[in-house]
This record gives sequence, structure tokens and C-alpha cells, in this order.
Amino acid sequence: MKLIKTVNQMQKVATLAKKAGHKISFVPTMGALHEGHISLVRKAKKLGDITIVSIFVNPTQFGPNEDLSKYPSTFDGDKRKLKEIDVDYLFAPNIDMIYPKGYETYITVEKLSLTLEGEFRPVHFRGVTTVVTKLFNIIQPDIAVFGQKDFQQAVIIKKMVADINYPVKIVVTPIVREKSGLAMSSRNRYFNVEQRERACVLYKSLIQAKKMIADGERSASKIRQSMQRLISETSGTKLEYIAITDNIELMPIRKIQGKFTISLAVWLDEVRLIDNISITLKDKL
Ligand code: PAF
Repeated sequence: MKLIKTVNQMQKVATLAKKAGHKISFVPTMGALHEGHISLVRKAKKLGDITIVSIFVNPTQFGPNEDLSKYPSTFDGDKRKLKEIDVDYLFAPNIDMIYPKGYETYITVEKLSLTLEGEFRPVHFRGVTTVVTKLFNIIQPDIAVFGQKDFQQAVIIKKMVADINYPVKIVVTPIVREKSGLAMSSRNRYFNVEQRERACVLYKSLIQAKKMIADGERSASKIRQSMQRLISETSGTKLEYIAITDNIELMPIRKIQGKFTISLAVWLDEVRLIDNISITLKDKL
């Protein structure tokens, strides 16, 4: 695996690879890699000839009250993990490379960025779409792999590449969970054993919702209420939202039918967690 730290060098390598007819598959990350990231990389390796992973903790996707400086940094371990699974290139630029002095251009997917996560993290998606566009311009991927864990992010990136006619295929891979059901996340490393157990309540609430639907419940508000009740029984939780939406426009649905996603964000003590489950129902009401 070759480590590349400059935009120029990364762009040169990518351009040469494209000229040689290679298909580039790309996984953008912010490091602190766990099994969820590794599953994205494995998928990318299957789909392309050359696999590039980026590690860049993107400051523009953190709001003023979100502590960027506390984001876990495990660069040497990350590098080892990527080398072990035989990634071709690791692109790890520093902040000034991506946002040089005087930087002022942003990409925004306007409506989709305002809802769900966007209500609580107003600048988040503007930062994500800006950095992903920049990384796409540098790496020129044919395929880019994102995780279903960040459901809204994946929906927004798909919309962005369609809107700006970007020639890249976006692939979304399933959530990787711990045995307990807790979705893998860089933030889980902040938890002790007891907190980890409480954190499973997000997954439990999704499973409860799924069961209600399987048992015939079709009222989205009843499902949300019952999830809310379950979450409130776990100490240290503060619910931000539970949403049941379609998978494209992220509009809330009232009657459970067709393809939809239940997503939620919950604070557990000092840590903010998100999770979701996508469901397809054959029956039409
Ligand atoms: O999902 C993430 O880790 C980040 O939002 C991404 C896509 C790497 C952009 O910084």
C-alpha cells in the first residue's frame, strides 16, 4: 500500500490509472477504522481494479458545538489495517491541502440537508458534500462505497452526483453490527462495557418496530411512540429524533407501506449515536 499525502500526487496517480484503463474504487473515511469501514473496503476491492481509501477528518462537517478536536485519531493502526487487506493507495492529506487559506467554495444539496440529521447538525451535510466532491475530483473514482449506517449521507451523496452529473457509481453496503446489535461506530470506543449495553437500546427499538410492522401495525406514529417509550426506559438517553421516511426524498410517511427507513439519533450520556433500518413491504394499503 502506498501512502499519498498531497493532492497533486494523488491526482497524478489517479489520472495515470484511468489512462491505463483501470477502474478506481474509492472509500472515503475519517479514520478511526472499525469492522464497518473494513467491510466497505472489502466491497470496494471486489468492484474495482485499484482501491483507494482516504483518511481525512473533515473540519467543515463539524458544527461549532461539536468537538472536532475530540474525534478519535488512530492513524498508525488504521494504516496497518488497510495494509493488511491490501489497499492500493491511502490518501491522507492534511487540512491545508484540502482547505488552503482563503478557501470559500461549498457544495450543498439544499433540501435533503435540512431534514433529520440536518435539523440538529445544520452545517454537517454541506461539509460532507463539499469534501466528498473535492475527494472525487482528486481521486476520479468510478465507484465510491458508503455505509448504510449513515443512511441520510448516502441518500444525499446519490442525489448530489445525479444533480451535478458526476460520473461515479455510488454503492451502499449494509450496517455492520456488534454481536449485541450495536451498530459499529468510531464513537463506540468512548463507551465502557455498561454503556455499550445501554447503547444497544437503539437497535432494540428498531427490532421492536420491525416486529410491530410484521405483526400488522401500519401507523408510523404508533411505531415511533413505542420506540420512544422503549428508549426512555434506558437511563442516560436523550432522544433527538425518530423518523420514518421514504428512501429518496426523506419525507415522513404516515402509513407504513412500500420501501421506507426508520432512523433515529439518541444521545447516550455524552455520546451521540445514530442507527437505522430499511424495510420493504410488499403489501399496499
Ligand atoms: O462518513 C464519513 O466518515 C464522512 O462523512 C466522509 C464521507 C468520509 C466525509 O468526510
